[in-house]
Amino acid sequence: SFEVRLASSGRTVGVAPGQSVVQALQAQGVEILTSCEQGVCGTCLTRVLEGQCDHRDHYLTDEEKARHDQFLPCCSRATTPVLVLDL
Ligand code: FES
Repeated sequence: SFEVRLASSGRTVGVAPGQSVVQALQAQGVEILTSCEQGVCGTCLTRVLEGQCDHRDHYLTDEEKARHDQFLPCCSRATTPVLVLDL
């Protein structure tokens, strides 16, 4: 498991195994707009300020994935303990 931190408030939210980042945030009252929830449409695209993403989508290009500055929180996760999001 890992945590996401909201840059605007400094709030940290834990993401359990089997739970998506979108679901973890939603449980804390933070809504991310979603559509496909399968990493295909790009609706949930979120900027990443710190940390490394475990990209599991089919939307970003390999070059975009390698920058670790954005990810799709409906399906993608983190390889670092904390991911700081521009939220
Ligand atoms: Fe479609 Fe996340 S909701 S990529």
